[in-house]
Amino acid sequence: MTTPTPYPPADRYKHTSTPSLLTAAQTAQSPIAWLKADHDRLFHLMDTFFILPATSHAHREALVDELVRSTSKHASAEERVIYPLIRDRLPNGGIVYERNVSDDQINKEYLSLLHKMRSERDGDLFDRSVDKFRMIEREHLSIEEEFLDQLDALLSAEERPSVYKALIAAWENAPVYPHPDTGPSRAPFANVVHPVAGLVDKAYDYVRGGRPAEKLED
Ligand SMILES: [Fe+2]
Ligand SMILES: [Fe+2]
Repeated sequence: MTTPTPYPPADRYKHTSTPSLLTAAQTAQSPIAWLKADHDRLFHLMDTFFILPATSHAHREALVDELVRSTSKHASAEERVIYPLIRDRLPNGGIVYERNVSDDQINKEYLSLLHKMRSERDGDLFDRSVDKFRMIEREHLSIEEEFLDQLDALLSAEERPSVYKALIAAWENAPVYPHPDTGPSRAPFANVVHPVAGLVDKAYDYVRGGRPAEKLED
């Protein structure tokens, strides 16, 4: 007889385009609310990692794999839809855009590292690396949300549904791995390259049966 785990199964963390905190109708009115709900979800993944027993290696790796996927998709959708709007609408949007793109490049390097790690093999280094990513992501998102609020105030009621639609479409076809060396974070190149990278990532997943493509072998 197997002992039931007090923690949710790993596939509990996989999500659809509608985070459970919001209804589809609510998000259609506010693409920014959708992004913020997704931020909460990313932190939930990271916080959950630290309440799992250190020996639950498969569960911890599944959580980090989902964190890599979720953050990669989130960043790609923002880079193609939201960051350009910030750049074009906010008074100092140009420099905010540059800052966001730079943050994303750092995040992708770090996600790429996390993706290669193994819970049992890397032990405490795994924990400390997830904690470091949580720290840099928290800093990125706290500043990002200030500018998202400014953008939110500038979006008209008429354009909100189309921004939401573009955001979800980008999220759906986004890469699921970080690609720090080959995936440009800047529009307009990102608009061309990201959907192709998304297809390549899905092919890797299919061939490898969902096993992360970039993990080091034992
Ligand atoms: Fe974000
Ligand atoms: Fe971001």
